[in-house]
Amino acid sequence: MWARSSALLLLALIPLRGAAPRGYPGQGGGTRGPIAIYEQACARCHGPNGSFYGPDLGLGKTDAQLYKAVQDMADNQGQIELKPVELEAQTAYHRAMIKREPFLAITERTKSMLRGEVTQGSVVTVTVAGKPQKVRVEGFVWSATLEGVGPVLVTAKRKNAQTQLDPAKAAHSHPPPRVERTN
Ligand code: HEC
Repeated sequence: MWARSSALLLLALIPLRGAAPRGYPGQGGGTRGPIAIYEQACARCHGPNGSFYGPDLGLGKTDAQLYKAVQDMADNQGQIELKPVELEAQTAYHRAMIKREPFLAITERTKSMLRGEVTQGSVVTVTVAGKPQKVRVEGFVWSATLEGVGPVLVTAKRKNAQTQLDPAKAAHSHPPPRVERTN
């Protein structure tokens, strides 16, 4: 009975969290950014920024197979417990590496500030209603102060490849279709 009413209470609270998309990091629940997780749990074997992965990374793997590989690695070698949203984000980060496109994630958002992660070596631009905002990039972390109102768009450019992210729609780029955790 208690469990049921608290589930209903949770449902009732969700809309109050505003326009943040599902699994939006920095909105409570302690969700960590996928690049930070990678650097903490995976980089000692696969290299900083995935630099030890060969050109065959993920060769022929569907999103579901890649998700499974990431999940197995997190559960075993990586020894890190990841929530489904974190596994999805990690799979997306790997898909970006496979496609050699810059990866973008949002980790925190307030009315006047956005913070996130990006593939190292990318140039990040943030616009509000088409107007460029002040952006700082340090390593794989970027942040922007937001002035004015209107749609926000984040763009990362690296080596002729470009990735765009609408923070109102998704918390990271390269999303895999929803996959259920298999254990
Ligand atoms: C102790 C070393 C080690 C750690 C830590 C580790 N891995 Fe791995 N990983 C390997 C080895 C070795 C392989 C290749 C053999 C295999 O698939 O088991 C591999 C394979 C993979 C593959 C498959 C690559 C392909 O070409 O399809 C992915 C994806 C992967 N790891 C992701 C991760 C992620 C994500 C993490 C962190 C959560 C991680 N690994 C942590 C050693 C490690």
